[in-house]
Amino acid sequence: MEIPQVPLSDIDLSDPEFWTRDRAWREGAFKTLRDESPFQFFNERVIENSPIPPGPGYRAVTRHDDIWHISRNPQLFCSGQGSNIADLPVEINEFFGSMINMDDPKHFRLRSIVSRGFTPKEISRVEELVRVRAAKVVDRLLSDFPSRECDFVEEVAAPLPLEIICDMLGIPESDHKDIFHWTNVILGVGDPEFVTSFDDLVRVGGEIFNYAQQLGEDRLKNPQDDITSVMMHAEVDGERLSSQEFGSFFILLVVAGNETTRNAISHGMKLLTDHPDQRDIWFNNYEEHAKTAVEEIVRYATPVIHFRRTATEDTVVGGQELEKGEKVVMFYASGNRDERTFENPHTFDVTRQIAPTQIGFGAGGPHFCLGANLARREIMVMFDEIRRRIPTMRISSEPAYLQSSFINGIKRMRCEW
Ligand code: HEM
Repeated sequence: MEIPQVPLSDIDLSDPEFWTRDRAWREGAFKTLRDESPFQFFNERVIENSPIPPGPGYRAVTRHDDIWHISRNPQLFCSGQGSNIADLPVEINEFFGSMINMDDPKHFRLRSIVSRGFTPKEISRVEELVRVRAAKVVDRLLSDFPSRECDFVEEVAAPLPLEIICDMLGIPESDHKDIFHWTNVILGVGDPEFVTSFDDLVRVGGEIFNYAQQLGEDRLKNPQDDITSVMMHAEVDGERLSSQEFGSFFILLVVAGNETTRNAISHGMKLLTDHPDQRDIWFNNYEEHAKTAVEEIVRYATPVIHFRRTATEDTVVGGQELEKGEKVVMFYASGNRDERTFENPHTFDVTRQIAPTQIGFGAGGPHFCLGANLARREIMVMFDEIRRRIPTMRISSEPAYLQSSFINGIKRMRCEW
């Protein structure tokens, strides 16, 4: 990728136009930020169709090591005032974001309970399911598309994570479509194709919350073989999850578990099409390179572009003074391209040894992605199925990207085989 020189004065991360620009140009902009102003201040703008007034602005943290430091010092950089840029009331943050918008002791309590659904035992049970679901995705491709072409996102990348998270939670197949729609609305904020108004967002939040509450209450009475039952019955220090808490966690889980993995798989297929040499290296020696290849896909794609923290006291990071109350937005997408950390960061290299340095799942600390191992497994198994059963599969159109400063999403993209 040819990275152009972009002057600092041309960069405004708060401008929605920024996120529609050519990707190489954006990479050039982040390089300028890393080199010249790694804590650049940006004003906030009025968000269209939203009643929330613009906040006081934020600093964009764009170097890898600064993001690492901030993530690992939660007492200095809290999440309880929000993990997205806009300032919302705490109740709304907790409603939509659950523990991702909490600090200890609240965060610790909730994470301890829900982690029971993600123990090695639970995940190994799910591993089998991932294989079965991925095989079914390929079965459908082979039987339903005699023309040997289809939309990759709709037929491959989207169904797998959705079906798995729904299976894990015990959601019947007939409801999967509703879940899919709800998560699209919540994460598509900013893209005109998905969200039309703030009211839509609130309505969808209510629908998904009610659905989850009912599911949680049902499993409390009638436990089944799913993680909803495990979580609803888990006790930590004599306390259980309330059905409201489960409702909000459910929103976080279906949103965090679906779109992110879907986009990692979509970007992965595009990268393997654009870099046939890397595809050959991996596919000719799948097991040997699977670990590094998956990590490199997540680094290169960085499906979650940023998360925010707020300084709890005056402090200094990377030589920059920060005042108590300042918002710091960690641009994982930039940290994952930091030339100070990664050699040739714009090169896609499936043999790159980068775990745990790449920060696509967060940069460590208490909020590190709860589903990272599950997501890695899904990506690994999906490409294994493709490699074995449809080895000629290629992306055949330019991707239609989601317009968002938060999610590096692909909405549509044709493939053929
Ligand atoms: C490639 C796929 C994925 C990516 C790129 C991703 C990325 C992230 C990131 C960047 C964070 C914030 C980390 C931080 O603030 O330190 C996060 C948190 C989280 N993720 Fe993931 N994620 C993925 C898949 C999943 C899956 C499959 C699940 C669950 C099924 C999941 C559940 C969560 C949860 C619950 C949190 C909040 C943890 C907390 O606040 O304690 N994620 N993820």
